[in-house]
Amino acid sequence: MERSIRVLRVGQRYVRDDRTLTHLCLVSRALGAEAIYLEDAEKDVTATLDEVNRTWGGDFEVVLGVTWRKMVQEARKEGRSVVHLTMYGLPIQEVAPKLREVDKLLIVVGGPKVPGRVYHEADYNVAITSQPHSEVAALAIALHEIQSGEELKRTFRKSRLRILPSARGKRVVEN
Ligand SMILES: C[S@@+](CC[C@H](N)C(=O)[O-])C[C@H]1O[C@@H](n2cnc3c(N)ncnc32)[C@H](O)[C@@H]1O
Repeated sequence: MERSIRVLRVGQRYVRDDRTLTHLCLVSRALGAEAIYLEDAEKDVTATLDEVNRTWGGDFEVVLGVTWRKMVQEARKEGRSVVHLTMYGLPIQEVAPKLREVDKLLIVVGGPKVPGRVYHEADYNVAITSQPHSEVAALAIALHEIQSGEELKRTFRKSRLRILPSARGKRVVEN
């Protein structure tokens, strides 16, 4: 099955936290999502990911300044299921078999505060353990569980550099 996964980060910043947002983008890109939508971020994040795409390939997209409501409405229109990651949801190990059968997903992660409506609008509220941790960790595990590890074998088109995996040291070739 050809799967399309997009990620939405809900929330306005209290303090500038581009490092977390950049990590969300990098994890989304590396682990098989095609785009991330950020409600609130600086343009630097987009520039960083453009550079990563140029160097390491693929056409992962970062979209800034969208509201979560609009994204959820658009997801509905195109038949995309909305999966909200929250410690209060149902365990990923119970929900993952169902999610593996869905071809279009919008995975929603929060920042410091998630509006209550998000819990109601989501098709699935999913927990990666019922303990508090991090949106980056939650996203990585959700992507891994939904794609059953297939995302680890992915290659990226048109990269400038490519790593030759090795037991020791760094081996990098130019394409
Ligand atoms: C720092 S946490 C904020 C937790 C906050 N108490 C809340 O839910 O509004 C930021 C985000 O990480 C994700 N997250 C944290 N722990 C999680 C867990 N155990 N399962 C799923 N997602 C989690 C959620 O997307 C959450 O919105």
